[in-house]
Amino acid sequence: MMVKKVLKDGSACNKCMQAEELLRKRGLWEKIDHIILAQEGDEESEGMRLSKKHGIEVAPFFLVQTPQQTRVYTRVLEFIKKELSSSPEKQSHQFQPQEAQNRYSQLSPSEILAEAQKAFGSKLALSFSGAEDVVLIDMAVKNNLPFSVFSLDTGRLHGETYEFIDKVRQHYGISIEIFSPNHKHLSQFVTQKGLMSFYEDGHQECCQIRKVEPLQRALAQKEAWVTGLRRDQSPSTRNHLLYLEEDHAHPGVSQPFLWKFNPLLDWSAQRVWDYIRFEKVPYNALHDQGYQSIGCQPCTRPSRPGEHEREARWWWEKSGQRECGLHIQK
Ligand code: ADX
Ligand code: SF4
Repeated sequence: MMVKKVLKDGSACNKCMQAEELLRKRGLWEKIDHIILAQEGDEESEGMRLSKKHGIEVAPFFLVQTPQQTRVYTRVLEFIKKELSSSPEKQSHQFQPQEAQNRYSQLSPSEILAEAQKAFGSKLALSFSGAEDVVLIDMAVKNNLPFSVFSLDTGRLHGETYEFIDKVRQHYGISIEIFSPNHKHLSQFVTQKGLMSFYEDGHQECCQIRKVEPLQRALAQKEAWVTGLRRDQSPSTRNHLLYLEEDHAHPGVSQPFLWKFNPLLDWSAQRVWDYIRFEKVPYNALHDQGYQSIGCQPCTRPSRPGEHEREARWWWEKSGQRECGLHIQK
């Protein structure tokens, strides 16, 4: 994020304009995710509050926030060199999915994550909802490298899931960006069709509004994202997963697609739970009540003895193709 100063007469400060011009010339302007204004003479403006908080008296300055720390730069060239330069590590196009598939099969999920964290920093988004995702957060925190985390709040999650999200936030001291459905679309939808229409005509429309569209916003400023998908969660829809995929359903900041990492693809549920217990990772209290795969409250039930974990999601629909749309490739 860039903090720019606005002078009392409303004009922009010279140095801020020069810094912006330099970033634009180098094709880096798109990488600035937020512009915050510091209004001269207005101590309450967000930029002035940030200046005070970080003890900075010059403009512009740049903040890079990761779940663990905030890095501050007062010189644009240093900021470019340290955060935006296209060192081989930061060139996302260096990834070759086929080559990565072979190489990553020899690495641990934590090592795959570390590679992604080094390459993309806070432009790497860990998607968080379930047990697998916290395992990945645990590994990412222990790698001590930057990353960001988001969760999609559909508005229909269990109370236990909300408590779980907060527990993870506190346990790791990280910030979790929460994305909610578009208010207008949701309001129109539930006014027209009621709050339980998925039992009548399928879950796709509701999932599109409550999950798929918010995911697009969550990924809008990112270069890469990480999921907790496993192949054996759904043999009919997840068997094709790769460690690294081009996700053309979501455009990146600097290229027409996002990189999508699935570091746990060959882990079994047992292995996930061994990790959770061994590393004392927080988990959703619903698991102690017989739930395995957990989504929204009306569309998830506890697993029955011997059934596949996916059977407990959207159980009234035909089995085999039960996906909410987050992971459909274009
Ligand atoms: S779903 O597509 O059927 O809902 P599932 O619950 O198996 O997905 O989770 C698979 C992966 O999708 C998770 O590991 C996570 O990466 C992502 N995911 C699912 N739901 C959410 C959510 N509410 N917020 C963020 N990521 C999610
Ligand atoms: Fe709607 Fe159910 Fe999909 Fe949640 S899982 S978004 S409640 S259809």
